[in-house]
Amino acid sequence: MTTPNGLDPTLFIVFGAGGDLTWRKLVPALYNLHLDRQLPETFALIGVDRSSQSDEAFRGHLREGVDRFSRRGKTDDASWTAFAEKISILNADFTAPEMSASLRKRLDQVDKSWGGQANRVFYLAIPPTLIEKAAARLKDLGLCQDCSRDRLVVEKPFGRDLQSARALDRTLTALFSESQIFRIDHYLGKETVQNLLAFRFANALFEPIWDRRYIDQVQITVAETVGVGHRAGYYDHAGALRDMVQNHLLQILCLIAMEAPVSFDADEIRNKKIDVLRAIHPIRAEKVHHYAVRGQYGEGRMDGVKTVPGYRQEVGVRPESGTETFVALRLFVDNWRWQGVPFYLRTGKRLAQKVSQVSILFRPVPHQSFPASAVENWQPNRLIIRIQPEEGITLRIQAKQPGTRMLLAPVDMQFCYREAFRKTPPEAYETLLLDVMRGDATLFMRADQVEKAWEVISPVLKSWEETPAGDFPDYVSGSWGPESADALLTQDGRSWFDPVLTEREGEEGQK
Ligand code: BG6
Repeated sequence: MTTPNGLDPTLFIVFGAGGDLTWRKLVPALYNLHLDRQLPETFALIGVDRSSQSDEAFRGHLREGVDRFSRRGKTDDASWTAFAEKISILNADFTAPEMSASLRKRLDQVDKSWGGQANRVFYLAIPPTLIEKAAARLKDLGLCQDCSRDRLVVEKPFGRDLQSARALDRTLTALFSESQIFRIDHYLGKETVQNLLAFRFANALFEPIWDRRYIDQVQITVAETVGVGHRAGYYDHAGALRDMVQNHLLQILCLIAMEAPVSFDADEIRNKKIDVLRAIHPIRAEKVHHYAVRGQYGEGRMDGVKTVPGYRQEVGVRPESGTETFVALRLFVDNWRWQGVPFYLRTGKRLAQKVSQVSILFRPVPHQSFPASAVENWQPNRLIIRIQPEEGITLRIQAKQPGTRMLLAPVDMQFCYREAFRKTPPEAYETLLLDVMRGDATLFMRADQVEKAWEVISPVLKSWEETPAGDFPDYVSGSWGPESADALLTQDGRSWFDPVLTEREGEEGQK
């Protein structure tokens, strides 16, 4: 009973439907898929939540979220009504045994009215501590047994260290087959992150110079202006290393450093990525301070205007909290391609600008033919992959300045998604949810990748747990992080690049 857009009828069941993720991300993404006619023709969303609200109230709440967070802005009545008809709520505690009968009954009813068994996506938008319980409940109920039709989507964080991630994986893989488990890292759904594969492997130009002979260093910056917001309950026990580095930043590193895949097969790409994680030079416990620094934001002014509280003053944060809100790492990939090339990673909250970029600095030309007077402002080539907010690629090259004299200056060649394709790229969750419904796991994390990523950061986690930071807060909100982050690069005679902003990004940053 496959429908015309190629997707089988699908029942999308969200556990934790009353939560923030459903409201801000999942439902706006599903609604945009609906507008783009990408949802299966036969589709229903069932939200499982403890609250006792009516379908009407639930739909109203979700509409508010779509109005606020959809990339297309406010909903119109006709489109929303058509979408809302597909939504219902099941008021139940998914950990309680009573839930089973009512959920099974609801699913059977839908199957019956659709005239056959639909695909089922069980989305666990719930706190990490409840994942094992929810998964076991699904299994008990016999609700997720068909390996080809039933899928389980798990949000990050997958565990809080290597041991707990392994334990979680053992539980999940004992209950479900690996092909049924979709571990989401939403960065992998971002258009520019996916474009890294196209950029590197669909163009002949870059691959021959993509190695230690031509590349001097790689910097990955994922900077946020927001603070911890209302997520202190989770974040204060996680910190930036677990929240951002273990997943998003290491995944970007993998895409930059991986070897060319033989095919676009999900496992082939994931195998190439895990090779990178395996090659990351292990950080020795006694050397952690040479490779990793942490920071925590204090009070400050964002854009020099709005005063914001320090992390320790945020609602729900412990007043003496030692949780890091900033991390910088200096990593090396021990293989033929990358030997000796540093990969500098940094991420933090309450930084000066919301911007995610990968900056690849090439080595200087081997011989300078121009007279010194021509090259006063010399800069080696730099490739900047702009992940957000304005998705695109900038290539910084040297050019002759117009005039009668030979004077060189750096100029930027720009590729901007919005201008080149004249459309707004889909949100990461749109891509990922559609992939789950299609059963394509290419952009999802495999268990061994998750574990390897934990292994990479384990020595840092351990060292920081054993030795609390004595100098927190150590950076002012609205800055680029603590001074120790600069020192991390100074030891190599290098420094962080200022992000390269398009005019639009520059203006947005001022708001
Ligand atoms: C999430 C983290 O995974 O990514 C958040 O838990 C962070 O702390 C968010 O704010 C950043 O995502 P994006 O898409 O806004 O860069």
